[in-house]
Amino acid sequence: MPKTMMSGVGKFSRHYPANVAIVTTRTEKEQDAMAAAWHSTISFSPPLYGVSIASKRHTYDLLLEGKKFALNFIPKEKAMISAQTGGVSGREGDKFERFGLALEEESGLDLPILKDAYAAYECKLHSHHTFGDHEWFVGEVLFTHFDGELFDERQMIRLEKVSPTLYLGFDHYLFPTQYEVKHLERAKPAE
Ligand SMILES: Cc1cc2nc3c(=O)[nH]c(=O)nc-3n(C[C@H](O)[C@H](O)[C@H](O)COP(=O)(O)O)c2cc1C
Repeated sequence: MPKTMMSGVGKFSRHYPANVAIVTTRTEKEQDAMAAAWHSTISFSPPLYGVSIASKRHTYDLLLEGKKFALNFIPKEKAMISAQTGGVSGREGDKFERFGLALEEESGLDLPILKDAYAAYECKLHSHHTFGDHEWFVGEVLFTHFDGELFDERQMIRLEKVSPTLYLGFDHYLFPTQYEVKHLERAKPAE
């Protein structure tokens, strides 16, 4: 299929869909939650996870102060939490209260863990670096929460039981009704 080539990257949306994570933070005085589509596993050992956060976000300030953050993965039925926490700033008031976001009682690092999340990582801030208009925050994952019913024995997600919230850009989300999952053997070294 012939492709068009343009200079630059336009509106940064052609690599979507992306699994949305709700980044939660807490300091002694405040807590916050924001939707993030730009995040990634970085290392198995130690377990490092990164998220890209613009310096104008309230989450940016709280993360630097509290030096910890959590990533909450929500099912597609709860995608509205992404639109809610990604729409307004925590500077205008507590989003947990405003949107009725219930929290787990248990947290290893005293972070807000969403009851609606099917899985969550609790991270201690490891390091951070400015890239353009965003900050890449790297956290060491010290605790993981997950619903055991929704993962198999290898901890692979069971898509027949739960669908992640997938973001398409421009406030659009994907609501697949069915997935086709295939196992594909990796290439082996040539003999
Ligand atoms: C689906 C979605 C994904 C987003 N991804 C990011 C992201 O990866 N990084 C970022 O800095 N902001 C991202 N945002 C924007 C923030 O979530 C939004 O600005 C939020 O209101 C910030 O809240 P805060 O000021 O309370 O931290 C995203 C928003 C949405 C709706």
